Amino acid sequence: MAESRAVVITGASRGLGFASAVRLYRDGWRVVAAMRTPDCGMPLLQKATGAGIDDDRLIGVQLDLIDAASIAAAAKTIEEAVGAPYALVHNAGISAAGMVEETDLQLWQNMFDTHLLGPVALTKALLPGMRAAGQGRIVLVSSAGGVRGQPSIAPYSDAKGALQGVTYHKSSSRWHFSPAHQPYLDESASIAVRTSTKSLRQLSVTRPRTAFK
Ligand SMILES: NC(=O)c1ccc[n+]([C@@H]2O[C@H](COP(=O)([O-])OP(=O)(O)OC[C@H]3O[C@@H](n4cnc5c(N)ncnc54)[C@H](OP(=O)(O)O)[C@@H]3O)[C@@H](O)[C@H]2O)c1
Repeated sequence: MAESRAVVITGASRGLGFASAVRLYRDGWRVVAAMRTPDCGMPLLQKATGAGIDDDRLIGVQLDLIDAASIAAAAKTIEEAVGAPYALVHNAGISAAGMVEETDLQLWQNMFDTHLLGPVALTKALLPGMRAAGQGRIVLVSSAGGVRGQPSIAPYSDAKGALQGVTYHKSSSRWHFSPAHQPYLDESASIAVRTSTKSLRQLSVTRPRTAFK
């Protein structure tokens, strides 16, 4: 790509978020790796990518999605570092087994904070800048459990389902949904992560039905 676009990836310390960060960095993106403990995660990412500590194409940002102050601080740091990101990948997640009657409310709270309320808060903080830029992508990494519902992982499944619901609601009608199995970020970028054919949601902020510039 001619000019490096910035992508924010949550949960970039390990797993799919880490793999996405490495892949997109290698593909020329400017990667903002959001994670709970950058002191631990960034050295690993730098080692995996070969990026130096001062490489401005690999930026670590502290983010804890269950902490409102952390989300606000992360959004501010992101905008100061890269301006409006081109893409925001909501990848961070937690998992736990258990049916409704087996799981306590604190687990439900953590699930919904991590998978729904935190991502919505981060989106609300970054979306005005992305809209002002007139382009961008928001990617939601969901799960087959969120698509179909799986009773044995009720809190996880329902939180993922709620995250997907955000893409359908009228209140978010200016987020535009593309088929889940399309490559994310843009047509030319190779897909970095695919958890299942129906669990990857890509929202475009480039072609609104209502006007924004
Ligand atoms: N792996 C699969 O088979 C699979 C299947 C379907 C969907 N998914 C979805 O794909 C995504 C990535 O999965 P994964 O397997 O790569 O997960 P993972 O290896 O467990 O990594 C989860 C990431 O999320 C971060 N995280 C957890 N709670 C957080 C919080 N409160 N604030 C910020 N970051 C937080 C973790 O940070 P720490 O390192 O600090 O804990 C870690 O970086 C998740 O959304 C998951 O639900 C995965």
